[in-house]
Amino acid sequence: MSVKKVHHIAIAVPDMETALHFWCDTLGLDLSHTEEVPSQKAIVAFLPAGESEIELVQPTQEDTGTARFIQERGGGIHHICLEVDDLASSLVDLKAKGVRLINEAPVLLEGRKMAFVHPKSAGGVLIELYEVTD
Ligand code: CO
Repeated sequence: MSVKKVHHIAIAVPDMETALHFWCDTLGLDLSHTEEVPSQKAIVAFLPAGESEIELVQPTQEDTGTARFIQERGGGIHHICLEVDDLASSLVDLKAKGVRLINEAPVLLEGRKMAFVHPKSAGGVLIELYEVTD
């Protein structure tokens, strides 16, 4: 498995307007765009930061992992996404090493394949893996 870079860090936010005010107006990051992602039941704001991105995620419904995360902790860093060369073989690798996966096979999305590694196998950190596609 070969990691190319930190693709993004996702932060769960209870209120997008408040979060954008801090990240853009106070810290000075640029907002590339905001997107409603129905499959994740969330609104996501994309803030490029050099080679990586900060993604602010605000759930639109109460029955998602991100919504529960906010109910329990009031928001904060939700997951770290690493970009890899070959996601399918990375997952085979990790499985062989006894790592618990949330997605055993790549999930195909627009422009990328993704899978989550279970935080129980990663010291409490939810790790997302991306392979960028055309
Ligand atoms: Co992500």
